[in-house]
Amino acid sequence: MKKSDIGLIGLAVMGENLVMNMESKGFTVSVYNRTAEKVTRFVEGRAKGKNIVGTYSLEELVASIEKPRKIMMMIKAGSSVDEMIDKLLPLLDDGDILIDGGNSHFPDTARRTAYVESKGKLYIGTGVSGGEEGALKGPSLMPGGSPAAWESVKPIFQSICAHVEDGSPCCDWVGENGAGHFVKMVHNGIEYGDMQLICEAYQLMRDLLGLTADEMHDIFAKWNTEELDSYLIEITTEILAYKDTDGEPIVEKILDTAGQKGTGKWTGIAALDEGVPLTLIGEAVFSRCLSAIKEERVAASKVLTGPKPSFDGDKAQFIEDIKNALFAAKIVSYAQGYTLMRDAAKTYGWNLNYGGIALMWRGGCIIRSVFLGKIKEAFDNNPALTNLLLDPYFKDVMDKAQDGWRRVCAAAMMNGIPIPAMTTALGYYDGYRCARLPANLLQAQRDYFGAHTYERVDAERGKFFHTNWTGEGGDTAASQYTV
Ligand code: 6PG
Repeated sequence: MKKSDIGLIGLAVMGENLVMNMESKGFTVSVYNRTAEKVTRFVEGRAKGKNIVGTYSLEELVASIEKPRKIMMMIKAGSSVDEMIDKLLPLLDDGDILIDGGNSHFPDTARRTAYVESKGKLYIGTGVSGGEEGALKGPSLMPGGSPAAWESVKPIFQSICAHVEDGSPCCDWVGENGAGHFVKMVHNGIEYGDMQLICEAYQLMRDLLGLTADEMHDIFAKWNTEELDSYLIEITTEILAYKDTDGEPIVEKILDTAGQKGTGKWTGIAALDEGVPLTLIGEAVFSRCLSAIKEERVAASKVLTGPKPSFDGDKAQFIEDIKNALFAAKIVSYAQGYTLMRDAAKTYGWNLNYGGIALMWRGGCIIRSVFLGKIKEAFDNNPALTNLLLDPYFKDVMDKAQDGWRRVCAAAMMNGIPIPAMTTALGYYDGYRCARLPANLLQAQRDYFGAHTYERVDAERGKFFHTNWTGEGGDTAASQYTV
């Protein structure tokens, strides 16, 4: 019997749909699931009559696959992945490839790559984005790990992934060890930011302008035909139109407490580790945390005062301003996310292709948008671009969008409407373009209380000074002081 091209472990929603996708592209797939009934249900149901082979033990799975074997794990991230690797390794031959398609934390993937390679096998940790539909019809795939594994996996991955208009696949090799999962993590962080910005636009329209869900539906539908054209705007448009059984918009009946599984938090932690100001994604994560303390907020709303929102300006103009605020803040978020990737690449020795990453995100994934095509162009034109804001196209957008963005932030502040992501983005924009920040005073404070020293505007960089501010301390600076 012909052996399978690939094996897949874990028949939950993503796993099943990926198998169907692979099979539809002409690959024979062996499947295994810890609960045997799931395998039977799948092969006798959805997979019936297809080139999908059900197996009931890891030995049977391994024996059914063509060498070098490729086995993709679609299981819960965390210790289950380590346990599965340990069960599989003794069954594999040298050169076989293990693939983890879960949302694993990139340091785990780096560790697992080294471990699996030390046993003579190869490892790939791949980002898979696009949810259930993406998995079936074409996800965005972000593989990294053992470079030697890529040639064997490439034909499968590049045929099952999403493709953009010109046929380019939304999947390419990202880099060594944890690079693929790092890029997927940043994707998810950006996803948090995009979602928060859309929610802020919605809150402004609902609470300041008093618009109905139907009116907002029409606005988002229009935006989805312009620069903001994206999957998340598209689903927001549909959500706003969706009515509950009583004919009322269902969105207003959903409790305002956001869940999160942790990838946004990891992105924020990585930024703090790298020292990169990833303020928008940080606010997006914290906004979910703030939403989660619902009972506390309800109690506080009865105690703490603030202005009553009221708007008497030009509504149409303000809606245009909100769009500009959303777009400008989104650009800041991507600029920050790309800066994080660039700095992490230096730290971890990855040679990331930033235009290529934009292309991987251009289709298939949750943050897919027309706008990512512009980011690809920016990095194709200048692969060494320090900050997306400095690209001529984006600089021009910021020039044009900022008046409206500033009006929205000011109006929200004056009316007590929280829009933390839009405002933090503006703070970053103004900080980034500020040639002289007040950190001179901060350095003086550090030197005053802790003799931490400072550099001077009239001396060369790298030369440190200390002032005896009170006349009472010694002349020893902290950096010179050794215990
Ligand atoms: C994707 C999504 C996917 C998942 C997130 C949701 O790219 O397909 O990002 O990975 O939906 O894990 O994350 P939260 O539960 O943290 O919102």
